[in-house]
Amino acid sequence: VVATTALDRTILAIDNMQAPEIEKTLEKFSGRVKFIKLGLEQYCRYGKKWVQELQDEHQFQLFLDLKFHDIPNTVARAIEGLEGLHVHLLTIHLTGGLEMIRAAQEACKKTLPQAKVLGVSFLTSLGEEDLHQIFHFEAKEIPQRFEALFTLAKQGGIGGVVCSPNEAQIAKKIAPHLITVCPGIRFLDEIATQKQDQKRTADPAWAISNGVDYLVIGRSLTQSERLEERLLELSSYT
Ligand code: C5P
Repeated sequence: VVATTALDRTILAIDNMQAPEIEKTLEKFSGRVKFIKLGLEQYCRYGKKWVQELQDEHQFQLFLDLKFHDIPNTVARAIEGLEGLHVHLLTIHLTGGLEMIRAAQEACKKTLPQAKVLGVSFLTSLGEEDLHQIFHFEAKEIPQRFEALFTLAKQGGIGGVVCSPNEAQIAKKIAPHLITVCPGIRFLDEIATQKQDQKRTADPAWAISNGVDYLVIGRSLTQSERLEERLLELSSYT
């Protein structure tokens, strides 16, 4: 196994930016961060061809976070529609059910053989109250609900899951081969000063030692005034 640093496993999240700023950001991070996460926001605004051109120009590994959630056939056809894009990671909602998860995996294997399908568990924007309102979950059973969804990911044969750093170990317990991709990463100085809006956060060192394979980091890098320091910190963890 080749030892990789946390920086090698950092995915830069692009949010709230329009094309010119995205270009500038990609130039700034070129040769430093390998993975870029683009999502619904950019895909709806600029489309597939734009993503393709952006990738041709900037040569990054693409995490395309479209979070598909529909009937199995529709999700499979949507994934087939991504043919031609060099996608490395793509997302579906695990609450779409086992049949949908399997259909997504099948379609991905056929159309995007280099890509891994990741299952999103519960959106990090949902708190305990929301989970109760929507699914009637009691707070104490939430960990079990995560386990149930990660089990579906395992049964569906997909590559991994997206979850908060706090749930990465639950996923690894269910199946060590599931790769864990986690947003909600904050540097220690930000945690100390509460400069954050994510509900379930962890610092990079903690995340790496608690089963997180890929760190999804947005504003803490894109808007940082201490970027060099942060990149150095990330490259010091293996
Ligand atoms: O917060 P940050 O800028 O690091 O965002 C990185 C990613 O984390 C976003 O692209 C989004 O997918 C996710 N996020 C989240 N909950 C929030 C804010 C962002 O899950 N409250």
